[in-house]
Amino acid sequence: MKFFALSILCFFSSLLLHRIPSANAADKETEHAALPPRGWNSYDAFCWIISEQEFLESADIVAKRLLPHGYEYVVVDYLWYRKKVKGAHIDSEGIDLIDEWGRMVPDPERWPSSKGGKGFTEIAKKVHDIGLKFGIHVMKGISTQAVNANTLIYDYDKGGPYMEAGRQWRAQDIAIKEKPCAWMPHGFMAVNTKLGAGKAFLRSLHKQYADWGVDFGTFEQFPSIFIAMLLIVLNLFSRLINSFTFCLAVKHDCAFGDDLDEGEIAVVSEVFKGQQNRPIIYSLSPGTSATPAMAQKINGLANMYRVTGDDWDSWPDVAAHFSVARDFAAANMTGALGLKGKSWPDLDMLPLGWLTDANSTQGPYRACKLTQDEQKTQITLWAMAKSPLMFGGDVRKLDDTTYGLITNPTLLEIDHHSSNNKEFPYINGGKGGATGPSAGAIASGVRSWIATGRKGEIYLAFFNLNNAKTTIWAEIADLSKAIPGWKIKPPCKGTEIWSGKDFGVMKKSVWAEVETHGCALFVLNCN
Ligand SMILES: *[C@@H]1O[C@H](CO)[C@@H](O)[C@H](O)[C@H]1NC(C)=O
Ligand SMILES: *[C@@H]1O[C@H](CO)[C@@H](O)[C@H](O)[C@H]1NC(C)=O
Repeated sequence: MKFFALSILCFFSSLLLHRIPSANAADKETEHAALPPRGWNSYDAFCWIISEQEFLESADIVAKRLLPHGYEYVVVDYLWYRKKVKGAHIDSEGIDLIDEWGRMVPDPERWPSSKGGKGFTEIAKKVHDIGLKFGIHVMKGISTQAVNANTLIYDYDKGGPYMEAGRQWRAQDIAIKEKPCAWMPHGFMAVNTKLGAGKAFLRSLHKQYADWGVDFGTFEQFPSIFIAMLLIVLNLFSRLINSFTFCLAVKHDCAFGDDLDEGEIAVVSEVFKGQQNRPIIYSLSPGTSATPAMAQKINGLANMYRVTGDDWDSWPDVAAHFSVARDFAAANMTGALGLKGKSWPDLDMLPLGWLTDANSTQGPYRACKLTQDEQKTQITLWAMAKSPLMFGGDVRKLDDTTYGLITNPTLLEIDHHSSNNKEFPYINGGKGGATGPSAGAIASGVRSWIATGRKGEIYLAFFNLNNAKTTIWAEIADLSKAIPGWKIKPPCKGTEIWSGKDFGVMKKSVWAEVETHGCALFVLNCN
């Protein structure tokens, strides 16, 4: 009885009310995710318990302080439909809110503006009014709650129950109980996308998100397990009319990586592809086993996809990204074809500043545990790999150091506008010498990345994954080996970004003494 609540509210009215007149918009579509998306996500600071007030407060600050640096999405992470009752946690059973069609409904205690069947419409509008784009996290498949209630399936196009072969179809007809979400087994399970009713169910979800005005869909992940993250961004008529700029982002979780569900991704992608007036950026989150080969099956259907499990503020989590980022770059996946535009391997949120823990119901209460050097290493790798940058810390308590890191102009320039981004294998230093292209996944030793800038500059980053200060160097004559077609010759002039030190003219090599878990980032101008 208490275990779930059906929203008896009329979804239809909200669906219809928020259709956007599409007149001039259709031909105005821009390339989706032309640059790696940037924004703020509620997970690292709130886990799942964020409220409407906290979210809007945060959005305001993002608009004022981070939007000028390109952070344009604000994303509500998972479980916005879960009641925050005593003992509730991330794999709770029986306390989620669904409507009569088995679709998730925001918890009205936490999201008061959703009352009356409005979903996130009001919030999306407020977010758009301050110049940002709105995103939500959604899970794959269907909720256990809907399956237990055996709800009817909504036919979005007809506006009533889905009918086929002379009968109405229900949740239990489409749910695949043997395929629960690996990291939230009591919450969600896969849907049979071979059935018309399964496809109709997914359409009813994602069309609704678009109608809410969501711009970004996030499938959040759980501790140590992989999840698929689906991010959809409706880049509505760009900047036309503010109040009508409904952008949608959907982050679709538990659909990629270990939970790869090509059938579901294809159906959802098709829905977004059809959103002529509302470009949608679609993001997927894979698990620990995400590989370039896996990504190549779906990159054309999505705009970003997670390539690792959840990244928290521990050094092993940061270090684990080096090899996987290298492999995706080497497979030419950086900025490869995506849904109506480009796609980006996503190294996950930046858990910097003021945070909470996974599976916590405490809200933000503690500082990031990474050292300053480790934090610089993280954002430098993310930028050199052109990862989407999603800040995870509590923006209401954003300290100057963290703010400086995430708004560093050189890093942001590299993240959006550099080319030829890849691991640079020809370096020296540290125990065991250079890491060659065949270096394994062991997160130690030294690493380096290279990229080129818009004005012909070379970006060269050295990373020290060892537990001791290490001197790292590269011969200038070797730089061209990594970037065919660029005849890079000494001497080079250069500056190291984090120290601000001008290295003057470097005749033969570039070298730096790099702190434990730290990095050096050179901007070089060579002959
Ligand atoms: C990546 O692109 C480069 C340059 O176009 C090409 O030489 C290389 O073979 C590609 N690598 C893969 C794995 O496709
Ligand atoms: C989350 O915390 C609850 C207790 O609050 C616990 O029962 C549950 O197993 C935890 N789940 C995970 C995945 O850590």
